[in-house]
Amino acid sequence: MTEEIRRALNLLEQNDVVGLPTETVYGLAARIDRHEGLQKIFRTKERPFFDPLIIHVTGAEQARDLVRDWPEAAGVLTEAFWPGPLTLILPKSDRVDPLITSGLETVGLRCPDHPIALELIRSAGPLAAPSANRFGRTSPTEASHVRREFDEAVFVLDGGPCRVGIESTILSVEAEGENAVLRVLRKGAVTPSRISAVLAAKGVPFRFEERTDKRLAPGQMKHHYMPEIPLVLVRETLSTEDLLTAANARLNELPEEIEGVRLKKPAGLLEHPIEMDLGADPTLAARNLYAEMRRLAQPPADLIFMRIRPSMRGELWEGLLDRLGKAASLKLV
Ligand code: TXA
Ligand code: MG
Repeated sequence: MTEEIRRALNLLEQNDVVGLPTETVYGLAARIDRHEGLQKIFRTKERPFFDPLIIHVTGAEQARDLVRDWPEAAGVLTEAFWPGPLTLILPKSDRVDPLITSGLETVGLRCPDHPIALELIRSAGPLAAPSANRFGRTSPTEASHVRREFDEAVFVLDGGPCRVGIESTILSVEAEGENAVLRVLRKGAVTPSRISAVLAAKGVPFRFEERTDKRLAPGQMKHHYMPEIPLVLVRETLSTEDLLTAANARLNELPEEIEGVRLKKPAGLLEHPIEMDLGADPTLAARNLYAEMRRLAQPPADLIFMRIRPSMRGELWEGLLDRLGKAASLKLV
């Protein structure tokens, strides 16, 4: 065991939080049996208590201890996708602190595909961890992002840059007789067609349900992941000059705050646009998204724009487009 892991274990033991590398984004972790540690997650992130945390486990066995019900679909999906970027929402057991679930009857569970995360959980037990960014802001995909986000006040285990780059797919699984009712609460690398293929191959009956009761997905805000300067999505053909004109005409309409997240409003007219080009491969684009948003949001740039190409269509792009849509202040597409 490395010195770093030992230090992290000590901090977790003492009700503290730790920066946790995973394959998706870095998390801000506390032990699920340390109530004050859990409170510290919310305090550090300035996260509202109505937004529940997901629990990170070493595998299905640990997960089953934390739920009231383990439908066949959960077994098949965890077998296929864990460790990996799939979070399952299932009925919680009494062992789960209501602070983690914001009082909901369900809990989010995921097994991260990262050796450091798994080693830590093996010794510390299950860890609750949201993404390690201030509420509403860009998620971190490198250890240095986390350190900077919290002004060096959080100890971070450095696991290198995150391979997936956007947060896990969140799938709620509800039993309806023999049938599993599935709802995608957040899009990610594990797509509905992959989920369908795995369940169909094992003969598990299921259906996807589009409608979701807002109260059961309290963390799905319209705005999220926002960089320090405005992000504008534009159609491929719009010239930089035209986009500046349009953005300047519309930015005055921006509110000071959206859904509890304060926006940095530009003081004067926008003058220094910088383009974000994530390339044509959806996997690489997702991997680089958050690091690029952070890198580009530096002076003198006062606006980031991204050209949305017609080829960015289809399931593989959806997770990325969802994040871009929520991070954007303005859409000229
Ligand atoms: O990839 C990930 O999932 C990363 C890494 C660190 O594992 N974690 C992450 O956590 O993205 P966070 O807290 O930033 O996003 C988790 C989302 C929140 O929007 C929360 O509202 C939702 O999961 N969630 C958690 N528990 C839930 C529940 N019981 N029902 C519905 N939504 C839930
Ligand atoms: Mg987050």
